Amino acid sequence: MNTPVTENLDPLAQKSKAWSGRFSEPVADFVLRYTASVDFDKRMAMQDITGSVAHATMLNKSGVLSDQDLADIKRGMAQIVEEIRSGVFQWKLELEDVHLNIEARLTQLVGDAGKRLHTGRSRNDQVCTDMRLYMRDEIDVIIELLSNLQEVLVAKAGEEADTIMPGFTHMQVAQPVTLGHHLLAYVEMFERDRARLIDIRRRVNVSPLGSAALAGTTYPIQRELSAQLLGFEGVTQNSLDAVSDRDFCIEFCSAASLIMVHISRLSEELIYWMCQRFKFMMLPDRFTTGSSIMPQKKNPDVAETARGKAGRVCGDLISLVVLMKGLPLAYNKDSQEDKEPVFDAIDTVKDTLRGFVDMMPGMEPNRAEMLKAAQAGFPTATDLADYLTKKGLPFRESHDVVGSVVRLASERDCDLAELPLEELRSFTKLIEEDVYEKALKLESCVAARDHVGGTAPNQVRFQVARWNDIFEARHAEPKPYNALNALLGL
Ligand code: ARG
Repeated sequence: MNTPVTENLDPLAQKSKAWSGRFSEPVADFVLRYTASVDFDKRMAMQDITGSVAHATMLNKSGVLSDQDLADIKRGMAQIVEEIRSGVFQWKLELEDVHLNIEARLTQLVGDAGKRLHTGRSRNDQVCTDMRLYMRDEIDVIIELLSNLQEVLVAKAGEEADTIMPGFTHMQVAQPVTLGHHLLAYVEMFERDRARLIDIRRRVNVSPLGSAALAGTTYPIQRELSAQLLGFEGVTQNSLDAVSDRDFCIEFCSAASLIMVHISRLSEELIYWMCQRFKFMMLPDRFTTGSSIMPQKKNPDVAETARGKAGRVCGDLISLVVLMKGLPLAYNKDSQEDKEPVFDAIDTVKDTLRGFVDMMPGMEPNRAEMLKAAQAGFPTATDLADYLTKKGLPFRESHDVVGSVVRLASERDCDLAELPLEELRSFTKLIEEDVYEKALKLESCVAARDHVGGTAPNQVRFQVARWNDIFEARHAEPKPYNALNALLGL
């Protein structure tokens, strides 16, 4: 698939361009290079072939294409698949795009049958069929990678169900939480990402084939048949919309951006957790890099790069939104610019997710440092207020009282738990001996938040078990339909 596109223009190929009939001179080299897409759309070659074989099969069943032509097309396409897979296929810039390259080679191999393939279709419905097939496959891969990442995070969360760390708001120590609970927050984010992709997949998985150039075709085609052969769940209902719609690309890039935003937030935390001021954890050596001048350095480069790449995927989304905003119906060549942002988003998200699936199990939390950090900054203040409220003091008053207690501890530079009982009782007689165990101990603070969605170790274990059931059910799901294998018997 990665054979280079020839830059030496082949005059023969150029003369026999699929649309050269009405032109008196060949296209300028600049125009060829500037408007060609084969360099990047050749990655959809397998989907293009699949779409073509389905189209030819449908034409044959509809009485438009002979059995012999269909057999020739299938034979030629099977050879082209082999040529592409083994890297010997010659991609030609003068043939513009993946569609014309494959069609030209097919005609070279099987003659007239190749020339009949394009009956009743246009590159306009062909290209969006290819895009939809391609994206469907990639969406499935990304859905699976998200699940893999969730699994490694859930496994870590299980190990760290009891690990206490400071929870922050405004980047100020707020209340103690468990590291397991913190990690599970990302599992929730990636679950929404999965749900979005599953939802988008339904709108991707619709066949535009048969819309032809823009208005449909005069041949007695059976759109449902080609759709079914390709594993599409339905057919588009308006040809003008079908050939010009790129909503599914925008939706995908939007979902991809959110995945990267979540990865970027996780990265940001890994980066500061690893810095010397925090020392909350270490990442495995093979995921960090050194400095060329400072021998002591160990930098979280993967997390930083991921944080940076999030910007690039958001950029892909913006490219597409702006690309589409002024396009009149129906097809316009501008639409060809949809591919690179979508491909870039796919590549970046896949690469990043794979990296994190590999990296996260190697994260080594420093439990002692996390605990120490959780003790600083009066994280038990809310629990002391709750303690008083449970004894009948209105919460606002408890809040006031605890504010004064915090001021005293702050002057003494000690933790609330280090204040003697007599001193605590000077603020209110509601405070009794049990305050140390019930309100001022970090373990009690986290354990007390024992309801669905709370940070208690119990709840973390409950969530880990819930997720593991979900993963088990996912593993039992059937693998997605492979249209190419089904159509070409490959
Ligand atoms: N390479 C083109 C694209 O990606 C294929 C469609 C070309 N259609 C046309 N009418 N020139 O959009």
